[in-house]
Order: sequence, then C-alpha cells, then structure tokens
Amino acid sequence: ARLVVLVSGSGTNLQALIDRIAEEGPAYGAEIVAVGADRTGVEGLARAERAGLPTFVCRVGDHATREAWDRALTEATAAYRPDLVVSAGFMKIVGKEFIAAYGGRFVNTHPALLPSFPGAHGVRDALAYGAKVTGCTVHFVDDGVDTGPIIAQGVVEVRDEDHADHEAGGNALHERIKEVERRLLVDVVGRLARHGYRIEGRKVTIK
Ligand code: GRF
Repeated sequence: ARLVVLVSGSGTNLQALIDRIAEEGPAYGAEIVAVGADRTGVEGLARAERAGLPTFVCRVGDHATREAWDRALTEATAAYRPDLVVSAGFMKIVGKEFIAAYGGRFVNTHPALLPSFPGAHGVRDALAYGAKVTGCTVHFVDDGVDTGPIIAQGVVEVRDEDHADHEAGGNALHERIKEVERRLLVDVVGRLARHGYRIEGRKVTIK
C-alpha cells in the first residue's frame, strides 16, 4: 500500500513508520510515498528528507480561504496516489474535500483514550481531569474531530509526578504515551495494509 503521512511537529510517529519499513521491507505491506505538513521547518519534514522521501507543505496562511487550503491539501496528497493517509501529529482539521477523497482510508493517532479528551490538548486535559489511566487511540478520521471509528487503543498509567512535571512544562506523560502510540500506529497501519479491512458504522474489522 502507498502511504502519505501528514505531520506538524517532531515526527517521531513518522520516524517509527520509516524505521519499521526499513527493517521489514516489502513484508510490512506499505511504503511511504510522501510526507506532507501544514508548516515548514518542522523536524518531521527533516526526518522525511533524511529518509529520502518526497515532501510537500500546505500552509493555511497561503490560501485565501480554509476551503482553498483543504482543496490544495487534497490535491497535493492525491498527486502521490495514496492507498492510505496517516495523520501522525498533524494538527489541522481537514475539510469536506479531503474527507470526500480519503474518508475510509485516512487514519489518525490521538494521545488519549477517545471519546475521552478529544482535540488538541488530550494529554493536558486527561491530567487536569484527574484520570488515573489515559493512553492513545488510532482511528479512522470522519467529518468530526477525533470522532471516527476506533481501530485500536493503548493504555498508559498516569503517575502522581506527571502533574508536577506537566505544570513545569515537562511532558513525561506524553512521552510515555508516545512510546505506546508509535508501536500501536506502526502495527495498525501494517495490518490494515497487509490484510485489508471493513468499516461498518463504528465497527472496524481487519480481515
Ligand atoms: C502524537 O502524540 C500525536 O498523537 C499528537 O501529537 C503527537 C505527535 O508526535 N497529536 P510526533 O510529531 O509524531 O512526534
């Protein structure tokens, strides 16, 4: 399967995919054909370039309207003919056109146990709420925010010291979540690619 991966930041989930594919080769069942970002100068793009992968950037500010950006992102992605699109820390909400083109083959990873703590601050919100466990969710993207059918989840214990660390601007909990998240994402993407899958309502079946 041809993968386009979308990033906005450090790209460690992207790196995990790059590394697994380098280890397993064709047996993994998927190859990254391009990496897209919503901004320039992020480590995720540098990781892609170091891996010799084509990259593209679609910045909201470069377009007159959000819809124009959504169309540009859809076209830039479509140029690589992906079978699956993976949002790995991509921090923009795509629009109707992107969902029309890639809905049902667009996977996102979120650092909380959806439906709890959706949105851009899932780790912070779980801590603030006093959750004792949190984790990560890999799901198909639908026309909502972090609301699509869940494929897999991983659980991470919240520790007392995470609260102090988080207030100090540290992100010990997010780093622990990301360790689980990277393995989950790589495993899920490989299984979807190798075995194919069915989505019926909120139920995902990997064949
Ligand atoms: C991941 O935890 C993702 O779930 C969240 O942002 C983080 C991105 O990390 N949206 P990276 O860019 O893959 O290192």
